[in-house]
Amino acid sequence: MSGKLIPASGVAVIDEGHHALCLHIEDIVRHWKLGSEDGVMETLVQAFRTAAMRHFEEEIQLLTEAGAATDRHCRAHRDLIDEIDTQLTETRHHSGRNRWFALVDTLERILYEHEIEEDSRYYGLLSAPSAP
Ligand SMILES: [Fe+2]
Ligand SMILES: [Fe+2]
Repeated sequence: MSGKLIPASGVAVIDEGHHALCLHIEDIVRHWKLGSEDGVMETLVQAFRTAAMRHFEEEIQLLTEAGAATDRHCRAHRDLIDEIDTQLTETRHHSGRNRWFALVDTLERILYEHEIEEDSRYYGLLSAPSAP
């Protein structure tokens, strides 16, 4: 996976947020492949969660400033965080080599389905020139 896969919005704070999430996931996948300890994996996932929360807040603020209705998108962000939390809890109850698989898969899906496909619908709005 590469940060280059995420189309640029042209808005620095959004693009930097997406790139940061990409780097977090690359790190998580690398450690998962290396078989890093559970404590390391959990710390990395928590760091992704924190970065995602920050990015979501910045994104909603910009969308609000651009005049977009954000209820649906806010709910989508909340659902993603809830999904991470649910998966993290389930992971703590499992053991074995594939313990982290579902969570890593979920994080990658969040990046592809939300950050790439869902967010890009708003790019036109974010880059639109502001009214005089
Ligand atoms: Fe985003
Ligand atoms: Fe979003």
